[in-house]
Amino acid sequence: MVLTKDEVLASLETVRSPDGTPLPKTGKLSDIVVSDGKVFFSIAVDAAVVQAWEPVRGAAEAAVRAVAGVRSAMVALTAERSAGSAQQAPQAAPAGRGRGAARAPGGQGGPAAVPGIAAIIAVASGKGGVGKSTTAVNVALGLRDLGLKVGLLDADIYGPSVPRLLAIKEQPEMTGGSKLKPIMRYGLAVMSIGFLVEEETPMIWRGPMVMSALTQMLFEVEWGELDVMVVDMPPGTGDAQLTMAQQVPLKGAVIVSTPQDLALIDARRGIAMFRRVSVPVLGIVENMSYFLCPQCGTRSDIFGHGGARHEAERLKVPFLGEVPLHMDIREKSDAGLPVVATEPEGVHAKIYRDIAANVRGQLNSNAAIRPAPKIVTEA
Ligand SMILES: Nc1ncnc2c1ncn2[C@@H]1O[C@H](COP(=O)(O)OP(=O)(O)OP(=O)(O)O)[C@@H](O)[C@H]1O
Ligand SMILES: [Mg+2]
Repeated sequence: MVLTKDEVLASLETVRSPDGTPLPKTGKLSDIVVSDGKVFFSIAVDAAVVQAWEPVRGAAEAAVRAVAGVRSAMVALTAERSAGSAQQAPQAAPAGRGRGAARAPGGQGGPAAVPGIAAIIAVASGKGGVGKSTTAVNVALGLRDLGLKVGLLDADIYGPSVPRLLAIKEQPEMTGGSKLKPIMRYGLAVMSIGFLVEEETPMIWRGPMVMSALTQMLFEVEWGELDVMVVDMPPGTGDAQLTMAQQVPLKGAVIVSTPQDLALIDARRGIAMFRRVSVPVLGIVENMSYFLCPQCGTRSDIFGHGGARHEAERLKVPFLGEVPLHMDIREKSDAGLPVVATEPEGVHAKIYRDIAANVRGQLNSNAAIRPAPKIVTEA
């Protein structure tokens, strides 16, 4: 029997808004996405009343989970900014218990830190297909090799690829509470928006809904204590990316680019975006920097190697390293066997470890790795 939207809607009749209206009649529900037993939707409320709606969100999730055939339910609260606000991007209300207050203490206005996680860094690119995810995975593993406890969060709503890059087939399980357990792979704690949405449905995850999903992946996953979390961002510099850059408490961003001029123009946009939201750019990685012939070992600079290094100098951001275009990286990556984990003695693993060391150096010099805020367990 296939689960339908109508069944989901019917289950929500018993859930009441703060003023007592059955939820489906409030006009605040987004489209309901039902996919393979997984249900997602959002409730759009006024930012001022988010707190009052939090129990409604929880009740809606519980009601949907109780429907036969539902494997998981994710309900997000989203709050539109009022008109006239300085920022254009949609703003999601932090979802979950009391998370309406999830802003930095002391009125700094930035997003609040995630308990237990010392530093969150974004791996971003102005343009798709430059090897951002491959870099994110291997740099995360490189940071692991430095002895750090590392998490990897795949926030690429347009094409989550971490499950493929790490050959993860299983779904995350729930903890005893209402949190999700990250999947452990090669010593990394991993979570992907791809675990929650089917590959065919990513376009629904835009704007406020995306943000709320991201907030949930940060706060409602039992990450434990992490030194660094690496976030694989969606490529580009549009509204969704800008909102993410604003909403995730980032200690820094790593920009991945190929050496071609066109890619570098996009990389520049990426840097500008992070600067705009006051996130330090930790540096640029040049990927597919040069071609090493696997047969003869000859090196050719097919894309005009060095462009990213020059660009980094010009923009006064650190240059973190260059990764060659190599079949091995591609084959391993696409087979879910990232080189840093599976060929740790190889040249490519060393390149990624060096980049990871540079990333850590930049984080430290920004004094970004500080003791993580304590995890407060609820009574
Ligand atoms: N240095 C490299 N050498 C060879 N192949 C690479 C290298 N880096 C990435 N690739 C390959 O290029 C393709 C794109 O890489 P990847 O998925 O990491 O890019 P991306 O920037 O995350 O793309 P998207 O924008 O789709 O998210 C993959 O098939 C990957 O294996
Ligand atoms: Mg990717």
